[in-house]
Amino acid sequence: MNERARPETVGATLESSAFFMPFSMNRHFKKAPRLVARAEGIHYYTPQGSKLIDGTSGLWCVNAGHCRKKIVEAVQKQVAALDFAPPFQLGHPLAFEFADKLASIAPQGLSKVFFTNSGSESVDTALKLALAYHRVRGEGQRTRLIGRERGYHGVNFGGTAVGGIVANRKIFGALVAGVDHLRHTHDPARNAFARGQPKHGAEFAEDLERLCALHDPSTIAAVIVEPVACSAGVLVPPLGYLERLREICSRHGILLIFDEVITAWGRLGKPFATHHFGVVPDLITTAKGITNATVPMGAVFMKEELYQAFMQGPEKAIEMPHGYTYSAHPLACAAGLATMQVYEEEGLLTRAAELWPYWEEQAHALKNLPNVIDIRNVGLIAAIELAPREGAVGARGLDAHLKAFERGAYIRVAADTIALAPPLIIERPQIDELFGIVREALKTLA
Ligand SMILES: Cc1ncc(COP(=O)(O)O)c(C=O)c1O
Repeated sequence: MNERARPETVGATLESSAFFMPFSMNRHFKKAPRLVARAEGIHYYTPQGSKLIDGTSGLWCVNAGHCRKKIVEAVQKQVAALDFAPPFQLGHPLAFEFADKLASIAPQGLSKVFFTNSGSESVDTALKLALAYHRVRGEGQRTRLIGRERGYHGVNFGGTAVGGIVANRKIFGALVAGVDHLRHTHDPARNAFARGQPKHGAEFAEDLERLCALHDPSTIAAVIVEPVACSAGVLVPPLGYLERLREICSRHGILLIFDEVITAWGRLGKPFATHHFGVVPDLITTAKGITNATVPMGAVFMKEELYQAFMQGPEKAIEMPHGYTYSAHPLACAAGLATMQVYEEEGLLTRAAELWPYWEEQAHALKNLPNVIDIRNVGLIAAIELAPREGAVGARGLDAHLKAFERGAYIRVAADTIALAPPLIIERPQIDELFGIVREALKTLA
């Protein structure tokens, strides 16, 4: 093995490593790396063997916990039997079986599934499906896409364009034409320390009427929002907000896309956030927990009538000129089927509902710690927002991440907001342990 690649020696030589790390502070990280070499259940282990509680399910994706035997074995078996099969004009049985399984769990009516390899690809696929759907029905003038400020929809061109996190957009130029954004729903002046959905803010959905008036609704193809905007600091939709968005979209013939890349697969105590909020979109994007992150995969769910709209032309024609070499990859399908089995056997798609009240209490118990200006929670998600340091937005959040790591927890931060979303298998004493570490870290923060 190359000396530089050995986990135990990598720290010494990392500064000259070829690895351009994604979404990372490369120089800062390589000087003082934080590495993990192994994982099991809700824990990571460093190359030196220290144990870390995984406070954010990896990147909101390892919902059933790490290295689950059933999933690992399914992948091992599959790789030896069929390593790859082209998904264009050829099939393998697991792809069809997995799509049918997923459709049986998805919200009613979202009965067809298009496979991708990531959340970003799911988003760009959903946007293209929306544009193409209008086009094949003779409404090709619907070309505009509406996202939302502070939304995160991955990093491909479409997702970056409809996304609303400024730092992720500003260095990439004009992105995609014809995109506009709703205002975000964060309103700490009225909603700070809300538990679950905040009371105030349903009226923010009226911003869609403003954009309809500005552009003419007949030019708008789709609106995409995360039911809970997680990556931008956990913004829970105000009561009535999603209902209002749905109503406006339906009235104007605009497709509504819920980006459930994080919120699907049990995070809110139901299989999808769509089930939890009781508002049904036309398309849903997913990824991450669909395979428990063991093999990369994503999927877009669509209403039956969208699929049928594509099935009207000649039978010997490709209905959707879109797809990826690795769409429905055999390893991903095997991992996904085993993942759904684990979710079902252990009741993980509804477990967050049981843990929710306990989780909420523990999260809000941090209220009086120094610098805490807001705490938000929904399902098995919590955000602790810290006041930014003068002239240094994000510095306090980074310190919280580093101090928690030193104390044995891996936690995500978005600027100065700590985001917690542990694997759904977490037990109450482990919830105490996680919040205990966060508490100790916060007490020491300047
Ligand atoms: C809501 C949402 N959409 C899309 C993505 C992008 O997913 P990926 O990183 O798998 O491309 C993410 C990732 O966190 C996400 O949270």
